[in-house]
Amino acid sequence: MIIVFDSLTGQAKKFAKKLNLSSYDISQYRPTAEDEILLVTRTFNFGEIPEPTKNFLDSHANRVKGVCVSGNRNWGQNYGAAGDKIAQIYDIPLIIKFEASGFDRDVSVVKNWIKNQINIKGEQNYVNV
Ligand SMILES: Cc1cc2nc3c(=O)[nH]c(=O)nc-3n(C[C@H](O)[C@H](O)[C@H](O)COP(=O)(O)O)c2cc1C
Repeated sequence: MIIVFDSLTGQAKKFAKKLNLSSYDISQYRPTAEDEILLVTRTFNFGEIPEPTKNFLDSHANRVKGVCVSGNRNWGQNYGAAGDKIAQIYDIPLIIKFEASGFDRDVSVVKNWIKNQINIKGEQNYVNV
């Protein structure tokens, strides 16, 4: 499992780094055959999926096992709405919506999700939870 992040002001990137797996900026991602990806992205412009995330998913959605989305509750109904849209359009599980770069408990939820995915696959990767 690797992390790919789409981050404009750095919050989603900070969250991605807390997960202790290899992480790649969405603009620099180059696919390799075996990649299984956790996408960490953000919500933009009244609940929209950011353009780099859309382009990425249009090419690589089949490799993406889950999505985490940053947002801000001040946006009310549009809070983290990119995550709902990604789940709906691309059929990718929404793991969590988080504010800014995430609280410790948000990070724990996602680390546990990663651990479960790896257990299901029987991979040898070590995740530091
Ligand atoms: C122009 C703009 C529009 C935004 N629209 C939303 C929104 O609709 N819903 C939401 O939850 N957050 C919204 N946000 C908040 C960002 O998703 C939030 O600040 C996020 O942490 C940014 O991630 P980044 O630092 O990785 O770019 C918006 C922020 C900006 C600057």
